Amino acid sequence: MTDPPTEASARACANIALAKYWGKADVKRNVPAVPSISLTLDQLVTETRVRFDASLPSDVVRLDGRRASAAEAERVVTMLDRVRRESRVRSNAHVSSHNHFPTAAGLASSASGFAALAAAASAAAGLRFNARRLSALARASSASAARSVYGGFVELPAGSRGDAELAARPIAPSEHWNVRLVVALTETGKKKVGSTEGMERSRKTSPYYQAWLDQAPRWARKIKRAIKDRDLDVLGAAMEQSTLAFHCCAITSDPPILYWAPATLAALATVRGLRERGLSVWATMDAGPHVKVLCEIGDATRVRQALDRTRGVTRTWVAKPGPGVEVHR
Ligand code: DP6
Repeated sequence: MTDPPTEASARACANIALAKYWGKADVKRNVPAVPSISLTLDQLVTETRVRFDASLPSDVVRLDGRRASAAEAERVVTMLDRVRRESRVRSNAHVSSHNHFPTAAGLASSASGFAALAAAASAAAGLRFNARRLSALARASSASAARSVYGGFVELPAGSRGDAELAARPIAPSEHWNVRLVVALTETGKKKVGSTEGMERSRKTSPYYQAWLDQAPRWARKIKRAIKDRDLDVLGAAMEQSTLAFHCCAITSDPPILYWAPATLAALATVRGLRERGLSVWATMDAGPHVKVLCEIGDATRVRQALDRTRGVTRTWVAKPGPGVEVHR
């Protein structure tokens, strides 16, 4: 007898790393080598529906209404296989995922995507995972996704080889500190190197990789303390050091990975200019040229206007602290 179809959907928000994750202690298990700290954002949402259905001849993966590429489907199927191993479900699955981002272009969705997939697939398989197990499941596919399981301010500790259980944990809920993150999308250059590939290249070839591993925990500790104290000056300075240090590893990899575009530097100059005029405004960049700017709620409009006037910035919007993953059966 075959099992009847079971389904569930989940909604997860993207997060932005205040203390960056770059580098793995265990590549096979996807265990980060440094601690990272993030803020979950309200507007960048992925919604994913998973249906296990014995009548399907193979897994089907659809992303934003199109068929997933082979590489995208493989990462999704790896997660489905993990869920099948932990449950009684043996059927193939139909996965359909939609990103509700203010714009489709330019922002990575793997954090919200794998958090939503972990939650929807485990619920559809009848597994009643708590947030910690869900976070560990998401982390195995994409470490930043472990953080999107929780809302607000979140940390993912560094792990070591074989650490299959490593999970993120909440530092403070979104209500703790009503900061704003102004996202400045920039003109993009050539096709970027994905973060998984980029951090492996840095580990293997950057002469500054070990220095990054040595220093990253210090910035993470400072940032965690500053979140608790709601001290934006301390948080912002450490956040900028963390982002510049990880980009330093990327730039000094062989071949080099330079994620920045001219507009990235222009936006950084805008941020510095605002700071010189007395605002507590701080920038961070991920594996791409876009600049995300952390500021107080009362400064968000002024920051956004300044970024809108910056050469090469194509679009801006203001994000707030957001919630953790939610499951709908
Ligand atoms: C620069 O979580 O995408 O955005 O674990 O290989 O999937 P994998 O990497 P991913 O890396 C994110 C890197 C970053 C910094 C961060 O979000 O901490």
